[in-house]
Amino acid sequence: MAAAKKVLLVFGTRPETIKMAPVWMALKAQPERFDVKLAVTAQHRSMLDQAMRDFGLTPEFDLDVMRDNQDLFHITQRSLEGLRGVLDQFQPDCVLVQGDTTTTFVGALAAFYRRIAIGHVEAGLRTWQKYSPYPEEINRRLTGCMADLHFAPTGLSRDNLLAERINADTIHVTGNTGIDALMWILANRPPQFDRVLPERAQEAIEQKFILVTTHRRESFGAPLLESLGAIEEIAAKYADRHIVFPVHPNPNVKNIVHQRLGAKTNVHLIEPLDYVNFSHLMNRAEIILTDSGGVQEEAPSLSKPVLVMRETTERPEGVEAGVAKLVGTNRARIVDEVTRLIEDAAYRGSMTGIANPYGDGKAATRIADILASHLSQRVA
Ligand code: UD1
Ligand code: UDP
Repeated sequence: MAAAKKVLLVFGTRPETIKMAPVWMALKAQPERFDVKLAVTAQHRSMLDQAMRDFGLTPEFDLDVMRDNQDLFHITQRSLEGLRGVLDQFQPDCVLVQGDTTTTFVGALAAFYRRIAIGHVEAGLRTWQKYSPYPEEINRRLTGCMADLHFAPTGLSRDNLLAERINADTIHVTGNTGIDALMWILANRPPQFDRVLPERAQEAIEQKFILVTTHRRESFGAPLLESLGAIEEIAAKYADRHIVFPVHPNPNVKNIVHQRLGAKTNVHLIEPLDYVNFSHLMNRAEIILTDSGGVQEEAPSLSKPVLVMRETTERPEGVEAGVAKLVGTNRARIVDEVTRLIEDAAYRGSMTGIANPYGDGKAATRIADILASHLSQRVA
């Protein structure tokens, strides 16, 4: 029997961890086929560790690159340098990266420099706009140029890759592994709100609440202030409703959010939640207001209407299916859209109960099977 293939998973942030965990589980379940190791850049430190704990992941290599308020040069340089050593030590047959972060791009670049096969999980999402999302659109395109296997979550992402003349035989529509992660967590891990939420927030989530997250680089400054102004206005307009807001630790987000919303009694600013509790929290929310990619994909599985505070989205499938609405960052528009969802039950209902266009929870096993077949052919 052929020796197990050496596969290195490279990731560094919270969403990559969540979406790679099911892939890690699927590969680990077949030790005769795969010798799997994890290399984390730790571009995120606390949120990476938090997400790894949720799935019981322990990395074999940890580059620990995060610095407070880091810039893109820092993450790129430190990760690339660190990954050289990891690749030389482990000498994988294949490197898997996920998504569109700077770790994703650099993980692919390092593998390319060593001529190691690259699999890209969540390939092919595009806005076709260079700076939106920034720098993710370009990170994803550059990773696509280098990848040998493209795991596209949807037919649309496959079409995007074909439009870039990527060889059709290398593209596989698998669904998004984030949906596998969500289903696994909801089935296997109960919430522990009393352990992670302040007392007032625990009371709030027993009532009607709006769940908010925001973190995108292209929104820093004026757009973020607009969105926060909208949240302030909604909190004043609907004093009987709560707003629960786990705040991203990026200082460009955290400081402004606390300055702007810290004093509002029905706005609960909390630390980032572990994925187990966040998943269950989404499941209880009345409305979700976010600029997160992952949250946009997860909300339909929980039958939650999601308003996307961005001008563009590389995930139009949810908008087309009617479960998500792109509302931008304009204050008045966000307030109007939330008002409509609160006041018009029929409208709110029309955004729920729609099949999730992003996946069926089986993406990771598909990826493992495709990878096994690809790696065995390379040897033959
Ligand atoms: C990164 C990704 C983005 C992804 C997002 C998910 C890049 C350039 N950006 O953005 O694509 O959507 O993660 O959340 O790859 N920080 C902490 N603790 C943490 C994590 C971050 O304190 O656990 C703070 C640090 O000060 C850090 C800053 O946040 O310097 C920014 O982190 P960084 O990874 O550069 O950018 P994000 O905005 O988190
Ligand atoms: N998430 C989490 N805790 C939080 C907020 C979000 O576990 O407090 C999860 C969320 O369910 C999703 C992922 O983190 O799976 C999204 O991460 P983020 O919004 O930071 O990044 P993006 O998806 O926009 O790249």
